Amino acid sequence: MKQLENTITQENIKTLMDTFYDAIRKDKDLGPIFHASIGTDAIAWENHKEKIARFWRQMILGENVFNGQPLKKHIELPPFPREFFDQWLKLFSVSLSQIYIPEVANEFLSKAQMIAQRFQIAMYDMQIQH
Ligand code: HEM
Repeated sequence: MKQLENTITQENIKTLMDTFYDAIRKDKDLGPIFHASIGTDAIAWENHKEKIARFWRQMILGENVFNGQPLKKHIELPPFPREFFDQWLKLFSVSLSQIYIPEVANEFLSKAQMIAQRFQIAMYDMQIQH
């Protein structure tokens, strides 16, 4: 088995994206949501993974490389059950544990949990009209 990574690099974030979105695309609930938004085109998926990799490089490595509007994008998705966030976090956690030592995995996971919490409050508790 490949040794787990103890540092975070641009390269292993890319591996994380490949692992995580492979799992997402196979998930019976989450897969259809992503395919409805991104499609099935290989280039569209490479672009999505590249964008989310930049998001994490900014979040974790402090590089100023992401410009997007994550909260707005999620609020504007067709509605889906709040519980799907648990599955998103589960798949993220499993993917992290395949790549990073637990301390590093936790760095990502605790940030993801905070963001997921924020998204859920905005999407399900605030009754924003759009
Ligand atoms: C059930 C939970 C989630 C679902 C179904 C979901 C789905 C999606 C979809 C379909 C897109 C593409 C939207 C587009 O390009 O128009 C997207 C973008 C994105 N997602 Fe999620 N997501 C979830 C949770 C999360 C969480 C917890 C995070 C962060 C920790 C996250 C981070 C992002 C980012 C950074 C983008 C790019 C936003 C942008 O283009 O500005 N997502 N998500």
